[in-house]
Amino acid sequence: MDGKVLVTGCAGFIGSHLVERLLEEDHHVIGIDNMRTGNHSNMVSFSSHPGFRFIEVDVCDPDLKSKLSSDIDLVFHLAAISSVTASIEDPILVNRNNVTGIVNVLDIARALDVSRVVFSSSAAVYGNPEKMPIVEETPLNPLSPYAASKIAGEEYMKAFHETYGIETTILRYFNVYGPRQAYSEYSGVISIFINHAIRGEPITVEGDGKQTRSFVYVTDMAKATVLAGKTPQANGEVINMSGLDLIRILDVANKINQAASSKGSKIIHVDPRIGDVRHSIGSMEKAQSVLGFTPEMPFETGLEHTINWYRSHMQ
Ligand code: UD1
Repeated sequence: MDGKVLVTGCAGFIGSHLVERLLEEDHHVIGIDNMRTGNHSNMVSFSSHPGFRFIEVDVCDPDLKSKLSSDIDLVFHLAAISSVTASIEDPILVNRNNVTGIVNVLDIARALDVSRVVFSSSAAVYGNPEKMPIVEETPLNPLSPYAASKIAGEEYMKAFHETYGIETTILRYFNVYGPRQAYSEYSGVISIFINHAIRGEPITVEGDGKQTRSFVYVTDMAKATVLAGKTPQANGEVINMSGLDLIRILDVANKINQAASSKGSKIIHVDPRIGDVRHSIGSMEKAQSVLGFTPEMPFETGLEHTINWYRSHMQ
């Protein structure tokens, strides 16, 4: 990588960890974010780093290209609305951010002669396949507008690869957790459960809680994402980024309740979520063979770091 690296969504949860990792590896980084869900506090550790420049701009902005420098060599495209629930409430908004956004970014990559674009897609594209762990060849089956928007993004990546010869790598993130994950009704289950447990509020399990997920710690994800940008063999590939263990949501609730709640929160059940995926764990064989990557953070340790982080950052 000779030129600069562009990170879209740099003030977000995963984007900010990715920027930190790139700066540690001495890259020059331009970060963009529209600050819709991104937060300045996520960028505190690097906002005044000499190798970093922040531009507040939307990925869909028609003038985005003129706001960027021309010597960008590599793009990590993370900017998106990352919530299934938000997509069910407002599919048009999610389409604009997630689909128009990637087309705009790819078109700028083409115009600036960027050598590679790495796209953060989602395990949501698989829907509910029968076989676990899910391999990358599994047919896609969108169960929410969010999943459809990520499939559309992947198709645009393939089209720009074929049409313009841009190197592309698609990463399908499974469930990422860790410090800086926003807390709202649209955020990830671990962030919601920890925040409720610390406050002594009820923990709400959607459905029977027997649905499972495989969680990956955010710094593992940042490391893998950088590797996807640097590894020659990753060009043109689609690669899962999953945790290594399947965990039931009800077990996550109990673990967090024990570790984070001083008085013990009530665990209550509500209706299952429309469009919810039942089980989700990806095969990490391809990540290992192409990128030489396997997640390192044990779930219990990652959970402990995450709980401590929320404790020290809650108002
Ligand atoms: C998550 C990510 C999505 C990513 C996908 C990849 C978020 C917000 N979503 O979707 O960006 O592409 O993984 O696999 O990070 N649940 C409860 N109670 C709650 C909240 C959630 O029981 O208060 C349940 C949900 O019904 C679901 C599970 O926990 O069964 C996980 O939900 P969530 O964290 O929103 O993640 P995904 O929908 O898997």
